[in-house]
Amino acid sequence: MAQIIAIASGKGGVGKSTTTANIGTALASMGKRVLLIDGDIGLRNLDVILGLQNEIVYDFYDVINEKCTFEQAIISDINGSGLSLLPPPQNVDISKVDSKKLGELIDKISPYYDYIFIDCPAGIHEGFMLMSQKATKALIIATPEIISVRDADMTVSKLEDLKFNEIYLIINKIRLDMVKSGEMLSVDDIINVIAVPLIGAVPEDKEIVRANNVGTPLVLNKKSRVGMAYTNIAKRITGQKVPILADKRKKFLGIF
Ligand SMILES: Nc1ncnc2c1ncn2[C@@H]1O[C@H](COP(=O)(O)OP(=O)(O)OP(=O)(O)O)[C@@H](O)[C@H]1O
Ligand SMILES: [Mg+2]
Repeated sequence: MAQIIAIASGKGGVGKSTTTANIGTALASMGKRVLLIDGDIGLRNLDVILGLQNEIVYDFYDVINEKCTFEQAIISDINGSGLSLLPPPQNVDISKVDSKKLGELIDKISPYYDYIFIDCPAGIHEGFMLMSQKATKALIIATPEIISVRDADMTVSKLEDLKFNEIYLIINKIRLDMVKSGEMLSVDDIINVIAVPLIGAVPEDKEIVRANNVGTPLVLNKKSRVGMAYTNIAKRITGQKVPILADKRKKFLGIF
């Protein structure tokens, strides 16, 4: 059975979809069988970030309504990478999605994968509850802004009240120049507020915007600091010990 991991945030636009695509790609390149479920009904993004926007024929709504099989809806083994994507419907109201049937579908496909990541909508609302129903682990994404950190902190409290038994924090879009000048919260400032373990920190890099636009996750670029950060997070997810704090001494580079 797959480990089912929800990618969550309090605030929107903090990098959930970018993180899902990059961690999934990194784990697939390590030989893991990875399925990404885009949980943003009506606002799908992962297909674009993975360069698959012209390949979607069916989505999970079609599967649970028996219009196609799950094999037909899942885009498998993207570019021979071992990574797969299950898209959401674009023109369906969330209230029309049968939660029980979606849960049964996730149970049915789980044995085929090592990891299933669910790119959830921001906040802990109806959409999150629907999409994350089978997840027991969560990665919460925050950016180093007070509003994002506060929202993430509140989100962690809500997740702890749900059934999540492991919750980890990823801090995204860090600008070291601003941290050094005191204009941006540091990693230490943030982990003092959000009481879950840090699993990675990712720098801000405009290359991400380009990579997302061309559909090639930056993690495939071995020279990219962002790519290195996501590879390290993927390794930590598999249980490899990649120290975060020890890396800090390497001029902060390694923390990423
Ligand atoms: N580390 C980063 N450096 C620079 N830009 C980034 C970084 N991470 C994400 N972005 C950019 O931030 C924007 C939001 O990213 P993304 O779509 O992944 O966020 P999201 O949390 O999934 O958003 P939503 O809540 O709308 O689903 C995108 O334009 C993306 O390219
Ligand atoms: Mg998103």
